[in-house]
Amino acid sequence: MTFRRALVLAAVVLAAACGPKEKTVRIAVAVPLTGDMGTEGQGLRRAVELAVEEANAAKRFPYKLEAAPYDDRADPKEAVNVANLVVSDPRVVAVVGHYNSGCATPAAKVYARAPIAMVSPAATNPEVTAQQNSKDWMGPRMVFRVVPTDDVQGSYAATFALKKLGKKRMTILHDKSPYGQGLAEEFKKAFLAGGGKIVSEDGVSVGDKDFKALLTKIRNDPAKPEGVYFGGLYTEAGLLLKQMRELGMKPPFDFISGDGSMTFGLFDVAGDSADGAYLSIVGVPADELPSAKKFVEAYKARFPNDERKPFDHFGYEAANIIMAAIERAGGPDREKVIAELKKTKHEGVLGTTVFDDKGDTTSKIVTMTRAASKKRAFDSVR
Ligand code: ALA
Repeated sequence: MTFRRALVLAAVVLAAACGPKEKTVRIAVAVPLTGDMGTEGQGLRRAVELAVEEANAAKRFPYKLEAAPYDDRADPKEAVNVANLVVSDPRVVAVVGHYNSGCATPAAKVYARAPIAMVSPAATNPEVTAQQNSKDWMGPRMVFRVVPTDDVQGSYAATFALKKLGKKRMTILHDKSPYGQGLAEEFKKAFLAGGGKIVSEDGVSVGDKDFKALLTKIRNDPAKPEGVYFGGLYTEAGLLLKQMRELGMKPPFDFISGDGSMTFGLFDVAGDSADGAYLSIVGVPADELPSAKKFVEAYKARFPNDERKPFDHFGYEAANIIMAAIERAGGPDREKVIAELKKTKHEGVLGTTVFDDKGDTTSKIVTMTRAASKKRAFDSVR
């Protein structure tokens, strides 16, 4: 047993010695709670809180369950710090997190050494789970996620661009993050395989504000791209859209992006410049899922002043899947919960969730949407 594990065990024994009445068991919610991506993390925190409150109200466990929020600020280094804090709290039995793939991948390594389960409600880069195949992996397989991955999302968007929009030449932009670049590469691979041409490819930096020079180069490109595919998050997507429109780059010159851009913050940044942008989301939006109806109503009743975010139903499901594993494990034992999570067959807001050998959901659904700023909505495109 490692020193760290011995410490954790001692702390667990101490916590248990306080008696069953005082015992509190925590599910960590490790997500960005501040900064631009804080909007998404706060939504996930609320969703996990709702799941935990429902379990407590139903007296599902002989102890009180708590959602314990941790702010990774969408920063990979901070995510590792947060992961170390999480594993050193013996009350934490499992983690819902992280939101960004760039955070989930390094944080998972810390959780593996504990070991403690991590169930991501939003990180879509394949590496988040695939890294467990590495021979340097320092622990059991304990990474799970309830969202389909970017190989599926990128190729779905490429087929959409080719077949539905009839694009032949596209430009690629990405934010150089594991998520953004990875998604853009998946789009590129499938677009080329489908007979399309990628006329240029550029990286931008998270935090950049002025993309006019880059966009002007794209607009004046003699290879005549018919649109931009962007791999990245809503802030940069919103600024790109705003500046594209200012430069006269409007549909049929299309802007296509993925789940990191598909959130209401896009409208706050781009205003009506967002109109007509195509954004894919992994899975199905909660409002379109009959199985999520009760969740949608409960969320509205519990948080009447807060906007429900596109990943919140995944956060709620991740928490419920963890709670079901705690139940089957017969108690809040980290390693037994990992073992039970592997056997998950959960009927919930997402329908049936089963994890494959990597820990990924076997569901491969992606939905394409189109931004409509007046309604502050993303309409599904069939
Ligand atoms: N799906 C996005 C990511 O993986 C949020 O980072």
